[in-house]
Amino acid sequence: MNVLITGGAGYIGSHTCVELLNAGHAAIVVDNLANSSAAALKRVERIAGKEVAFYEGDVRDEALLDRVFDERDIDCAIHFAGLKCVPESVSKPMEYYDNNINSTLTLCRVMARRGVKRLVFSSSATVYSAQNAMPLSENSVTGDCTNPYGWTKYISERLLTDIAAADGEWSIALLRYFNPIGAHESGLIGEDPRGIPNNLMPYISQTAVGRRDELTVYGSDYDTKDGTGVRDYIHVMDLAKGHVAAIGYLLEHRGAAAFNLGTGKGVSVLEMVEAFQRANEVAVPFRFGPRRPGDVATCYADASRSEKLLHWRAEKTLEDMCRDSWHWQRLNPQGYGE
Ligand code: NAD
Ligand code: UD1
Repeated sequence: MNVLITGGAGYIGSHTCVELLNAGHAAIVVDNLANSSAAALKRVERIAGKEVAFYEGDVRDEALLDRVFDERDIDCAIHFAGLKCVPESVSKPMEYYDNNINSTLTLCRVMARRGVKRLVFSSSATVYSAQNAMPLSENSVTGDCTNPYGWTKYISERLLTDIAAADGEWSIALLRYFNPIGAHESGLIGEDPRGIPNNLMPYISQTAVGRRDELTVYGSDYDTKDGTGVRDYIHVMDLAKGHVAAIGYLLEHRGAAAFNLGTGKGVSVLEMVEAFQRANEVAVPFRFGPRRPGDVATCYADASRSEKLLHWRAEKTLEDMCRDSWHWQRLNPQGYGE
């Protein structure tokens, strides 16, 4: 199939391009490079040995999308494009709502006009209310988001669900990612955050490579196995395969449906630091600091629905995630800026 991939030059998008090409699909990427580099797509082509069609531009640019649909015979879309930095969303809410909601609306408008009604959407575990018991299933309560980024995902899910309810021809998969980490095993593509990383794994690997002095562990007094925060880390290549599985599902099902993409296992910050040091035989200096505002103690998935309906399951281990994150970081200490 010809798959339109918005945000395909980004971290998850680039890894998904590889899996799509490996599965025999064609990849057509629209990305404004707001948080990525065109070099990632060149490396995707190197890994897969196939070409990616790339349109540099904004998904909110309806004329650009029309041109892409004129030039390519698009069968379905994966919508990764969006801004994703939680603290930035608190300081720049208008930018986040504009980018994340209007990109989704513009894409759906053009798709509807062209009669292309199969869509995979990048959602997040952040849509779940913090009041839920663990593990989180797709039926757990959503809403109560603690920041504008989370609300943009919640609202996008709502509007996509309403679009599918109004027109029975739509097939939409709302993929709720837990914590993607790791990189392609080649070390050619990986996560390349701009500035100081907010997320744990890039901070660990940048500390290990010497770009940061030490990791601050946010909180040591949570009600968890060792007092540090627990999350469901998933290898980005497993996540990428989840998108290929979702496309298969869309071919057979109508309506909008949500799926958790996680491993179902909770790993603490200290366990992650230890696993990274052990897997890679490198030191990750750290100190304990206060809790980060907005953080929950524990968050992990019940991924059984994805296993049953998408026939997908995360397969890579924590060691794989740590080894591949480090391989990418070591080969590319400055990311794509090298
Ligand atoms: P990323 O920033 O690496 O990728 C997003 C891509 O979208 C970037 O290449 C960026 O340049 C592009 N983009 C942003 N706005 C655009 C626009 N208006 N038009 C065209 N391109 C635009 O982020 P990622 O980690 O690969 O995340 C991909 C998607 O998954 C995002 O929607 C994100 O919110 C969601 N998500 C990510 C995580 C995570 O931990 N990485 C977790 C849950 C959900
Ligand atoms: C964060 C976002 C969430 C988003 C998710 C995936 C916040 C509040 N939440 O979630 O919306 O969906 O990323 O992109 O930003 N940690 C440290 N030191 C660090 C960084 C993190 O101890 O320098 C800890 C955190 O306190 C947490 C764990 O590591 O316990 C994971 O943090 P992170 O990678 O930022 O992911 P989330 O908090 O799950």
